[in-house]
Amino acid sequence: MFASAGYSVCIFEINESLVQAGIGRIRGNLNTMQKDSLTRGPLTTEEAMGNVRGTIDLREALHGAIYAQESTMESEVFKKDIFTKIDLLADSETVLASSTSTIPASLFTEKLKNRGRCLVVHPINPPLYLTLTEIIPAPWTEESAVEKAVQIMKNIGQTPVRLHKEVLGFAVNRLQYALLAESWRLVKDGVLEAEDVDLVMSEGLGPRYAFQGPLHTMHLNALGIEDYCTRYAAGLRRVLADFGPNPTFEEPEVIEKISSSMQKRVTDHTAALDERKANLARLAKLKKE
Ligand SMILES: NC(=O)c1ccc[n+]([C@@H]2O[C@H](COP(=O)([O-])OP(=O)(O)OC[C@H]3O[C@@H](n4cnc5c(N)ncnc54)[C@H](O)[C@@H]3O)[C@@H](O)[C@H]2O)c1
Repeated sequence: MFASAGYSVCIFEINESLVQAGIGRIRGNLNTMQKDSLTRGPLTTEEAMGNVRGTIDLREALHGAIYAQESTMESEVFKKDIFTKIDLLADSETVLASSTSTIPASLFTEKLKNRGRCLVVHPINPPLYLTLTEIIPAPWTEESAVEKAVQIMKNIGQTPVRLHKEVLGFAVNRLQYALLAESWRLVKDGVLEAEDVDLVMSEGLGPRYAFQGPLHTMHLNALGIEDYCTRYAAGLRRVLADFGPNPTFEEPEVIEKISSSMQKRVTDHTAALDERKANLARLAKLKKE
């Protein structure tokens, strides 16, 4: 996406074959974006590839960079280690972003000399088709670094959403987990079959929220948000008070129910992922229009 938007990109990996594999995947993604008319700038695949190189030397990868996006394994220990290395080698202006989905930057950047330019910039999978990117500064992240990250995300066609403070799970997973908890309870309590939970989303709430979020929807579902609250607040409270405790997500009988439903619905995992990508590509095109 960076290359597609015209940025010069250097990827760093731990060995030469992974560098080459990464570059191959970038080419594949650029071709896909071109085919789907979803490129993030005016460049063709070949032009964008002219801006992409790779290295196994972290110093070289960081040299002269305005922005670094760390996307290594999801582990606090590992993030601490890689950010310590990046901190030693980074130029004095580089914004140092982590893709981490769950680990606040304050847990792995506190001791770094460049901590004022460290933050989380969390994309959503698959980012070629879902443009949301959560931006979560640590308490010590400088405003200028946040603004730079926001601007770069806009420049590559992403939709940055900034959190004002660190919170466990950030925004995406907090909302996602709330939905997963109730989906789980509905199956566990025998209210819905697993496939019907998915239909409630895919044929109802999912498309409804694809263009307007839940608060926007509240506003439109009555004569404005004040009217919605006057009419429905008591009902909301009654239903919310009826929710059971949080699931452990380890209850074998629920896992078994969901798993047997999924075995019927997904016979080829890779094909199902490809189908999801194709559908999201169509939706992304529609949203772009
Ligand atoms: N996969 C997703 O859907 C997704 C979405 C958003 C954010 N993220 C976040 O992105 C990060 C990476 O996730 P992933 O699923 O791609 O993980 P992954 O395990 O598939 O990939 C990790 C990559 O890090 C490389 N690596 C290993 N050791 C390294 C080192 N010492 N230095 C540099 N690179 C090294 C590996 O070769 C590999 O390419 C995680 O923090 C994850 O939370 C993932």
